Order: sequence, then structure tokens, then C-alpha cells
Amino acid sequence: MQAMTRPFHVRIEDLKLRDREPRNDVPPVAALTDGGKAFFLETFGCQMNDHDSEKVAGLLLSRGYQQVETPEAASLILYNTCSIREKAAQKVFSRLGEYREKQSAGKVIGVLGCVAQQEGEEIFRRAPWVNLVCGSASYRKLPEMLGQLEAGNQRVTGLDTDTDETFETEVTRRDNPWRAYLTIIEGCDKACSYCVVPFTRGPERSRASDSILREVRQLAELGYSEVQLLGQTVNSYADPTPRRMRFSELLLAVADVQGIRRVRFTTSHPSDFRPDIVEAIERQPKICDHVHLPVQSGSTRVLRAMQRTYSREEYLEKIALIRAANRPIAITTDVIVGFPGETEAEFEETLSLLDEVQYDSLFSFKYSPRPNTPSLSMNDSISEEEKSRRLAVLQDRQRGIQSAKNARLVGNRFEVLVSGKSRRDCQWSGYTTSHRMVNFASQGRELLGTYVQVRITGVTPNSLAGEHVT
Ligand code: 5AD
Ligand code: SF4
Repeated sequence: MQAMTRPFHVRIEDLKLRDREPRNDVPPVAALTDGGKAFFLETFGCQMNDHDSEKVAGLLLSRGYQQVETPEAASLILYNTCSIREKAAQKVFSRLGEYREKQSAGKVIGVLGCVAQQEGEEIFRRAPWVNLVCGSASYRKLPEMLGQLEAGNQRVTGLDTDTDETFETEVTRRDNPWRAYLTIIEGCDKACSYCVVPFTRGPERSRASDSILREVRQLAELGYSEVQLLGQTVNSYADPTPRRMRFSELLLAVADVQGIRRVRFTTSHPSDFRPDIVEAIERQPKICDHVHLPVQSGSTRVLRAMQRTYSREEYLEKIALIRAANRPIAITTDVIVGFPGETEAEFEETLSLLDEVQYDSLFSFKYSPRPNTPSLSMNDSISEEEKSRRLAVLQDRQRGIQSAKNARLVGNRFEVLVSGKSRRDCQWSGYTTSHRMVNFASQGRELLGTYVQVRITGVTPNSLAGEHVT
């Protein structure tokens, strides 16, 4: 955390602004009166951000706001931002430029999430038409901050990350009617050298197990059958109550709630991934057959430089644990290519790891230097061109692996939670417990939200196709 005191190095040149100096002619903030309480909320980034937005929306609805579909129709425009890679952060600034036009109509504009935390008050200086800057560790104070905005305050901030609180709301406006996200641990105490999350989301805070289970029971009563437990390092969960529930015990307790049919969890950190998690999956079929276990690199030297706290061999031991389970468990991962100093041979170690593990799917990224992170001081020596080449080689290798794996699934039967309906007649989609997307044909009239059996008849590298078995 020492690095937090260092100045931020964010590329402001991407700001699409006509002037860069503070303006004194800031138009007055429109009153967020009962007649004008309409909000537009746009979200970028990870599932944690998606879920934070669901909670923020719930909070606003309970304060008498209405959610609207366009910024034009809103009196309050909120933008929940992501800064995990530079490109994501750049988007925020160009979007703020677009919002500038809209504020002439006297709207209140707020920046939430990771870019808000990272940039802080600098956002007011560069985009003086913004009225609220609030990082995720301060969402607990949002009602207070909204009160200040409603009272006409033009500059409201929530930038404290020094907190042991989690963000809980009375009302959450969930986007998906069947699968509910539920954050069980916020922030991150790991210190991966490339990652902004410990700076933008603050230290690790676990939510009380009784509060989590209460919410799961409410979700089941509302008709949700799938719960996805969220955290940057979800399996580092440390129950703050005297019950001291382990993560694996929490998984089992959530699965025991009447009405819950599937329990997912993401993202797991390899160092905290222990045998009891696999044992819980083996014991309880409601816990999904899927573990997302980011490896980042297949080279122990690079992993050390990334401060990932495990070696290639230690990671492979965790994989062996999962593969030894009494039912097949899908494994997915994240990989970064072109980390400072990554040699061709080290990159090839990542390729050989893909061959060895045979992931079911992966997310891959080019290394992107981020403000405040320890790796910022390392020489970002690999050219953009070379990073792109490595990314393409990696993705190509994985495509081959996935095609071959998926081809072996033809003829198998899976249970699918139906979550999509195509405009084409009789075409539906959904996910298996192993989180494979399945498109399938059925004459069924209303399948959304139901669990159906599908026989696989065809595959692509990224999805399966099949037919409803009745
Ligand atoms: N550059 C590239 N990828 C990154 N990730 C996190 N930080 C960076 C960065 N600075 C990737 C990691 C992480 C995923 C969510 O984003 O792979 O697991
Ligand atoms: Fe970032 Fe590492 Fe924490 Fe994941 S575990 S959020 S990569 S610091």
C-alpha cells in the first residue's frame, strides 16, 4: 500500500476536451427535486462493477428516483467506471466529454468506480461539469452524498479507501431475473505487481456470513435459482462473525437454501484454493462444475515478477486437485502477455501450460501499465506489436484446444438454465453448470428461467448447439 502515496500517472491527453484549465462558469446544478429524480446509469468493467451498479440503482430507486434508458431523459447521470487496463480508463474520459454537452441542460453528473478512485479530485479539474466523484469503497456513504447533491452541492466526493465496511443495500435492482450476483468479499489484499485493484477498491473486507445467507434466502423467495458469489479473490473469504465460516462451508450453506439450484463463485486466487473447495463441489452437486483460476503466466520467473505468490508447479498442483474430483469440473483462466521482461521462452512456457491444463476457456490481455502499481517502474520493454503477436498466438492455441474439447461433447446431455430467446422461432440459449453457452432448438412455449435437458449436436470453439430433450 506504500505506493499509494506516489503521484498518479494517468494519460490525460486522451481527454476529449476543448480546454484543460478549470472553468469558473460551471452552470448551477439542477435541483434533484421529486419531479426531476430520474437517473441514467452506465456501467463498464467486471461483474463486481455490474453488481455494484445494481446496488446503486436499488439505492436510488428507494430514494424515489426513476431509472431511465437515456442520458437525455435523466436529471442524474452516473457512470460506473473501470481502470483495469488503460483502454478501459480512456473510455471514461471520452465519455465525460460527451456528457459535457448534456450538462448544459443542467444535469447532475457523477463518476463512480475505479477511475473515480484513481483520479479523485483531478476529475473535477479536468471535467468541471462533474458533480460527484465516488470510489467503490465509499458507496456506503452514497445516501449522504446524494443528500448533498439534492441540496444543491456542486462538488461531492467519496474517496476514502481506508475502510472495513462492505456495501449493503436494502434494495438491489438486479438485471437478471434468474441469476443473482452477490458480493461476499470486497477489495483485495494481494499485491500483484501489475494490478490497480488494491488501490481502486481498497483492502479486503468480507461480508458477514449471516447477512449473506439472509440475502440468499430472500433471493430464493424472489424466485432466483442461481446465485453467483463474487469477489476479486472470492476464496480468500474470511467470515468476520464468531461463526468464522470457511469459504467452502459458505458454499455449502448457500447451496442448502431452499429454492437454490446453482451456486457459482468467481474469481478464485490459486494461493487460497484449497482441497476443501473441491470437496464441497464433490459433496454438493448444486455447486457448479466450474472454477475460474487465473494463472496470468506459465513462467515461474514471470509469476515472481508479477508477485503472484505461486510457481508454475504450485499452480499445476491446484489443477491436479480439481482434475482429481469425482465429477468433471471446467477450468477457465486469465492470462497476461507481454509483462515487462517476458522473453520468448517464457511466453512459450505459457503456451505449454495451456497444452498441459487444457482450459475450457480463457480471457487474455496485453500487459497494460497502470498508475501506482509496482510494475510501472519496470521497463515496459515489449513493443505493442510484439504483445499483439503473442496475444494472437495464444488465442490461436487456445482456440484449437477448445475446438477439440468441445467436439468431444457432441452426443452428451446437459442441464441448461435457459436465459435467452432468439428472435428466430424456437431458438433458445442458456448455460450449463460448467458455464458453457448452449444454443438449442425447442418447440417449448416459455422456457426462460427454467432448467431443461439439451443434447449436444454441434460445436464451435466458444459455444455448443443442441436440441431440447423432453
Ligand atoms: N494489464 C493487463 N491485464 C491486466 N489484468 C489486470 N491488470 C492488468 C494489467 N495491468 C487482467 C488480469 C486479471 C484480469 C481481470 O485482468 O488477467 O486477472
Ligand atoms: Fe488484482 Fe491480483 Fe488482487 Fe486479482 S489478486 S484483484 S490480479 S491484485
